[in-house]
Formats: sequence, structure tokens, C-alpha cells
Amino acid sequence: METPDIVLFFGRFHPIILHLPIGFLLLAFLLELLSRLEQFKMYRPAVGLALLLGAASAFVAAVLGYMLAQGGGYGDELLGLHQWLGIATVVLAVIAYVLYLQRNKRENPALDKTYVSALSVMVLVLMGAGHYGGSLTHGSDYLTQYMPNPLRKIAGLPEKESKEAKPITNLEEAVVYAEIVHPILDSRCVSCHNPDKKKGELMMHTAEALLAGGENGDIFVPGDPETSEMLVRVHLPEEDEHHMPPDGKIQLTDEQITLLSWWIAQGASFDKTVAQLEVDEETQSVLNTLVDPNANKTEVEILLASEITPADEQLVNGIQQRGVMIMPLAEEVHWLQVNVPRSASADSLMSELSKAAEQITWLDLGNTKTTDEALKVLSQFKNLTRLHLENTKVTDSGLSAISELPYLEYLNLYGTKVTDEGVQQLAQMKNLRRLYLWQTEVTKQGATQLQEANPNLEINLGVEDWNAVKADSAVALR
Ligand code: HEC
Repeated sequence: METPDIVLFFGRFHPIILHLPIGFLLLAFLLELLSRLEQFKMYRPAVGLALLLGAASAFVAAVLGYMLAQGGGYGDELLGLHQWLGIATVVLAVIAYVLYLQRNKRENPALDKTYVSALSVMVLVLMGAGHYGGSLTHGSDYLTQYMPNPLRKIAGLPEKESKEAKPITNLEEAVVYAEIVHPILDSRCVSCHNPDKKKGELMMHTAEALLAGGENGDIFVPGDPETSEMLVRVHLPEEDEHHMPPDGKIQLTDEQITLLSWWIAQGASFDKTVAQLEVDEETQSVLNTLVDPNANKTEVEILLASEITPADEQLVNGIQQRGVMIMPLAEEVHWLQVNVPRSASADSLMSELSKAAEQITWLDLGNTKTTDEALKVLSQFKNLTRLHLENTKVTDSGLSAISELPYLEYLNLYGTKVTDEGVQQLAQMKNLRRLYLWQTEVTKQGATQLQEANPNLEINLGVEDWNAVKADSAVALR
């Protein structure tokens, strides 16, 4: 049965009127407490007026609220709670007013106690009604939406999840509904179409809810975006009253509309992946924008693709004057590569170089007189990705500093005195990909052990030995 417009018209005043009973009734409570103090005794007669106005306006608000509810679109459970707490507020306000009058007639401590209890319960019920009313309009997570995670833990709420769609790492494998369609609906539609707030009797928060449709039935026709109600409404002019999302709310972008249309055109499947659907050119280019640009890059590639502030020019010139080759890794890039000449003593140079430690990503100390001493400051070179130490005096004790370098990808220790025991310190370096150990004291067994600990690592013990290491570890890994 259609609700008469006049009922809905008055109903819309509920959200305005409801502030009156809240104000009056809280004021009555406050005045009652104050008037018990000697210096505020004079407020006592005002309590009655506040209570009377509060009870009357609460009654009006309740009637208007009932009218508003006839328009539908609210979750039954929340609405029921709000409605009964609202009615209880009216009843308790009236009771409190009657008790107030009685108590004024005759001073009776028992009566006074009953009156104050009624007043207090009324305030609690009022706050409950207000809270559930707020949840009805704003969603039940309105108050807690921005609550910091530590507080959420105490309150027993799940951790905040960001509403931003997560970038997709593997487009072909992405489940279209879960990773593409749902995030769009979640950010643009679910705020009004959920169990607390079923506008048009429609919920859109889950696959089942979408399939259930709204008050006028199905909201999409698999394979036919043109006649699918949810898209028909999206395409209506914004000022049309049936346009979705309603005028004034954040609208869908053209890209989001393209994706929703494509999903429906392809059969509106809830479990198929992108690879299982046909993708036209336009959709493909939109899909590509959803992919995390760093998805298939290594951590080292991401580091080197990132911006870094340039090193101090004077510092770089000073280092150059000491015969060291120091230059950008590529044009227009502030990452530096450094090549220390054979004659130089790296030990004395390192403290100078460490002033540009942030920018230096390739460091070649190969064939110099470098000792473990020079590696003491190495931990400052956090962005080092490539380190040459071949034919230096470095030993096992120098390797612990190297193992601290988070981005080191390439390490050349050829011709040094490092041993099996020493190189085991490198086992946990997750970015290390290539390790040169030819003509060191590292044995085949030692290399195999290291290889097993870090399967991504390519160890070079000299050509023949390397093949042996690979074969051995393949057996061991099986
Ligand atoms: C600000 C609240 C709000 C948002 C956001 C919103 N809607 Fe609605 N929606 C409504 C209201 C109110 C109705 C019922 C009135 C009507 O039919 O126009 C409705 C009705 C609908 C219906 C008709 C259901 C039926 O069976 O009658 C569809 C379909 C729909 N919305 C789709 C969407 C889609 C898709 C989005 C997101 C792109 C969306 N809505 C976002 C408020 C909203």
C-alpha cells in the first residue's frame, strides 16, 4: 500500500524536531541536579517546565518518526530498537513529570528517590534512542569509523580497513567481482544499500544481496547492461530523482561505469577472473590503471625507480678530486655509482664516501687495499645494491656489516679469504641475487648450504663448481 505523501512530508521533519526533546529533557535533568545545591535552589521551579516541554516535544518527534519510517528504506532491527526507545522516552518523560508534581506537593524522601530514578533512566533511554537514530541515518559504524586501531582493539572491533580499492598485483588472476566490482559498489553505493539502511529495499554489500535485488526486483540482467536497472539509473541525468548515486553524492567515474558495464555484459559472474572474460580495448586500458605499477618489480627495482635528494655537489667534487670516479647511475638520476681506483686506500676514503651514503648504490672497491676496517661504516650505505670487494683483504669478520645491507643484490668476493662459516651470515639477505665466490675458501658444501637457505641466490664458484652447486642443491631441495 502506498504511503500518502502528506505522511512522508511531515515525517521528514523528524530529524529537525528531535533535537527539541533532547535539549529540554537533558536540561531538566541538569537543572534538577543543580537545584539540589543551595546556591542554585532557585532553578527548582524551572525543572517542571523543561520536563513538560520535553515530554510534549518527544511525543511530537515520536509521531513524526513513525511517519518517516513509513517511507521504508531502514533496517528492521535498528529501526525497531530506535522506535521502542523513542516511545519509552516519551513515557518516562511523562512519568517523571507526574512524579515531579507529586514530590513538590509533599516532601517525601521515598517519592523523591523514585522521581530521580525515573529521571535518570529517562536520560539513559533518551541517549540510546539518539544513538540508534544516528546509526539509522549514518550507518552503525558512524561513530567508530575513524576510531584509532588501539581503541578499536579495546572495544572489540575489527581493525580499520581502508576504503580505497587495493591495487591489483596480478590482473589476469584477479576475481572480477571481488577485486574490481565490489570495491566500486562498496565505495559508492553500499552506504545507502546495506542491512542498516536498505534504500529501495536494496542491499549491495554482498553477492547474495545483489542477486536478491530491490523493491522492484532484479537490479541487473546478466549479459545486458542496457536494461540492467543499476546501470539504467547510473546513466539517468543527474537531476533525475531516480539517478544513482543520488544528486549531491559522490558520483561514479566514467572508468567505474565502464567496469560495471563490462562485468554485467560478460555475464555478471561472481567468481570468474579477468582472464576468463573477454576484454575489449577500452576496458583493458581501464583495467590496466588498477594494476599496482610496482607489482612485478623487485624491491631493488622499486628503490632505484624512486626519487632521492641529490648528494651535496661540493662533497662529490671533493671525492672526485681524490681520484675516485663518482657519477650518477643514469641521466637525470641522483643515485650514484662509485669506483675507487686500485691505488687508493679505501679505508681512509670510506668516511668521506659515507657522507653520500644515502645516494651511493653501486660501490666498487675491487682490487684495492680495502680491509675489514673500511667495512665498519658500511652499514650507513643502506641503499647499496651492488658491492665489489674482489681481490681485497676483506675476511669473514667484514661480512657481518654486509649482511645488514637491506637492498644488496650483487656481491663480489672473488679472490678474498672468506670461508664457509663467514658466508653463512649472508643467508638471510632476501634481496641478494648474485654472489661471486671464485677462488675463496668457500667450499662446494658451504655454497650448497647457502643456496638452500636462499633459493633465489645465484652463487658463482667458478664455472665448473657452479654447475655442481646447482645440481647438489637441486637434489637437496627435493
Ligand atoms: C545517498 C544514498 C544512496 C546512494 C549512495 C545510492 N543509492 Fe541507490 N537508492 C537510494 C534510494 C533513496 C533509493 C530508493 C528511491 C529510488 O528508487 O530512487 C535507491 C534505489 C536504488 C535502486 C532501485 C531499487 C529498486 O528495486 O527499486 C537501485 C538499482 C539503486 N538504488 C542502485 C544504486 C547504485 C548502483 C548505487 C551506487 C552507484 C546507489 N544506488 C547509491 C539511495 C542511494
